[in-house]
Amino acid sequence: MEKLIIKGGHRLEGTVPISGAKNSALKLMCASLLSPEPLTIENLPRLADITTLIDLLNHLGVTVTIQGGMGGALKGRSLTFDAGQINDTVAPYDIVRKMRASILVLGPLVARAGEAIVSLPGGCAIGNRPIDLHLKALKALGAEIDIAEGYVRASAPQGLKGGKIRFPFVSVGATENALMAATLAKGTTIIENAAREPEIADLAACLNAMGARIEGAGHETITIEGVDQLHGATYSVMPDRVEAGSYAVAALMTRGNLFLEGAKAEHMQATLDVLEEAGGIITVEDGGVRVKSNGHIKGFNVVTQPFPGLATDMQAQLMALACVAEGASVITEAIFENRFMHVPELCRLGADITVTGSSATVRGVKALKAAPVMATDLRASMGLALAGLVATGETTVNRLYHLDRGYERLEEKLRAVGAVVDRVPA
Ligand code: UD1
Repeated sequence: MEKLIIKGGHRLEGTVPISGAKNSALKLMCASLLSPEPLTIENLPRLADITTLIDLLNHLGVTVTIQGGMGGALKGRSLTFDAGQINDTVAPYDIVRKMRASILVLGPLVARAGEAIVSLPGGCAIGNRPIDLHLKALKALGAEIDIAEGYVRASAPQGLKGGKIRFPFVSVGATENALMAATLAKGTTIIENAAREPEIADLAACLNAMGARIEGAGHETITIEGVDQLHGATYSVMPDRVEAGSYAVAALMTRGNLFLEGAKAEHMQATLDVLEEAGGIITVEDGGVRVKSNGHIKGFNVVTQPFPGLATDMQAQLMALACVAEGASVITEAIFENRFMHVPELCRLGADITVTGSSATVRGVKALKAAPVMATDLRASMGLALAGLVATGETTVNRLYHLDRGYERLEEKLRAVGAVVDRVPA
């Protein structure tokens, strides 16, 4: 195990290259299961979650090859996923438990192979996170669903049939499972109250490049005309809006000036609006977004929401910002219960935070003070790392594997813009 040691107090200035989006890349990789022809995905980030999903796809029979070697340190990799033959329809517990997003093989597998047996993802650090909406969607497409011995089995030996799916509330993952499954269902599928996150539109664009017929992705209603077979394609992953947002927060917290190379403002407008209110000067430039501090950080009130609202994946990082703002902020988490595990850790750094139900009141302090901290999830860990960038002294962030799940070459990117940070064995 490794840990991060951050010496706080350094202003960040320069360019941060934004990697391909983890939350899109994982779904595109699952989409490769839908076609007997190879799917080449460009700009894949080098992350632990990507490796976990490669293991799962390998297990199912997908052959994965790296295009152009492992070089090109600053560019994402291109990988080809060849699901010519699906050898196994079981996604085992040992792999699924490492990453909840493994549930995204369920829809493609049952659509292509007529059966999918996937381990239930199990408990998660940020709430219960059930999969009922995923199952409801597949049932609406004619799949039979059984749950036994910790596994969910979806079967449709004669193939799926188009149908109407209306989600009672927005779920990114359930929309994606439904979307992928419907591409091969006979007839028309209509998904209502679909998630509108940019990753959904990215997935649909990739599926359409593979021959799917999807309209409306990125809107509330998505229509899919099923086709008999998808073909091969080459597709490049969208930039990671959460990674970009995290560095944008770092720019403000350190009173710095960062150019987020490759970031797209339209993917992260809600975050940029909050940062502007807090004292950021945001400019959309050629090839990216610049975030500069105006020298002050003001408190702000925010509520996380489905897209185009403020992303829950930015909540912990914005809380770190609020810790050093002038005045009080109220941060309400409306997507996941129990997503405030970074609060006691931020308090160890000297933050003043009171949690009541799903809202946290953060009273800004003059300075945070370094301490050893640890987090239980990916974005919470980033919140702590950001706090470490401005805390006086040396902050140690333990359990670095959480950060490695979602931030590519974090310490390298931070060091390149002036942070003093090291990765050391724990
Ligand atoms: C995805 C993202 C995650 C992000 C989240 C919300 C990936 C790999 N993960 O997670 O980073 O924080 O979107 O933007 O892309 N729910 C149910 N039943 C279901 C499914 C979800 O009750 O069947 C609930 C969840 O518990 C949660 C809410 O719906 O309270 C939203 O979850 P969802 O949008 O499904 O999140 P994920 O797709 O798991």
